[in-house]
Amino acid sequence: MAAPVKVTVTGAAGQIGYALLFRIASGQLLGADVPVKLSLLEIPQAVKAAEGTAMELDDCAFPLLSGIEITDDPNVAFAGANVALLVGAMPRKAGMERGDLLGANGGIFGPQGKAINDHAADDIRVLVVGNPANTNALIAQQNAPDVPAERFTAMTRLDHNRALSQLAAKLQVPVTEIKNMTIWGNHSATQYPDLFHAEVGGKVAAEQVDPEWLRETFIPTVAKRGAAIIEARGASSAASAANAAIDHVHDWVNGTDWTSAAIPSDGSYGVPEGIISSFPVRSVGGRWEIIQGLEIDAFSRERIDASVAELIEERDAVRELGLI
Ligand code: NAI
Repeated sequence: MAAPVKVTVTGAAGQIGYALLFRIASGQLLGADVPVKLSLLEIPQAVKAAEGTAMELDDCAFPLLSGIEITDDPNVAFAGANVALLVGAMPRKAGMERGDLLGANGGIFGPQGKAINDHAADDIRVLVVGNPANTNALIAQQNAPDVPAERFTAMTRLDHNRALSQLAAKLQVPVTEIKNMTIWGNHSATQYPDLFHAEVGGKVAAEQVDPEWLRETFIPTVAKRGAAIIEARGASSAASAANAAIDHVHDWVNGTDWTSAAIPSDGSYGVPEGIISSFPVRSVGGRWEIIQGLEIDAFSRERIDASVAELIEERDAVRELGLI
């Protein structure tokens, strides 16, 4: 068997961690023939809970799981890591201003970026799940100057999957009938799920739905789905977030024709270079590429610009805080 791939998961004792680790260990992240070694990074108070999860992983006797390491030291967790899933983050607490939230997360993602820079394997790929995901990814990236910038990505795949499922339900088609869905911008309420390039049965999706449904129902339902899950479940999305993280890394490594991922902009579609924004992407040879040449009409332009403006504000705020 090949040498195991080291996958580091931060926030391993949290809800998403619990939904994610078993799927990684079972081979769904990288493939059914790729052995994995898991490294679980937690804060000291949660190391014991992570140890409990590791006991359960042991009890699954996963054939592909070659070892589990548990630590509260990022330098240990990221040593030799090939894939890093940065899930643990500082949640927004009541009364917290945006600057406080960004600052608190800078205290997590800055040192983690540096540890990745100093200790990870040369082929390291990073997916940031912890919110605010796009800007946390930017902070980690900017603290890892020796790692190619493109290796830092943030997750909008859950939004993408939500958009697929909402459209499939509306048109009463299987999700597999839908092609070329795109989420643009920030993983936040400003994100723009785009039906003008999505196709169902070979025809533009936006032309198959009522414009008012698209504007007043589809876009806000996808963008605010996270809040609706909290309202219904009493806890935030966890299994669906873990599923999306699996999808993102699986497709990054194994290739895909078209999906959504937040990756560093090269200036495409008027998104300033360096901003980690969601785009329509394909993955070829283990690298994300932004799908080029799409025509963006005024309706889409306005929404993409609004979400990108929010990302620029977040970037400027973390710059002012000296985090990047
Ligand atoms: P959770 O609160 O259940 O777990 C978070 C875990 O992170 C905790 O065990 C905590 O101890 C750990 N942690 C905190 N600081 C850490 C650090 N410095 N190093 C290592 N571990 C640390 O939260 P949950 O539900 O697992 O969500 C995790 C994050 O994912 C949140 O920021 C949430 O907003 C975000 N999220 C993002 C989604 C996306 O689509 N991008 C979707 C759903 C959630």
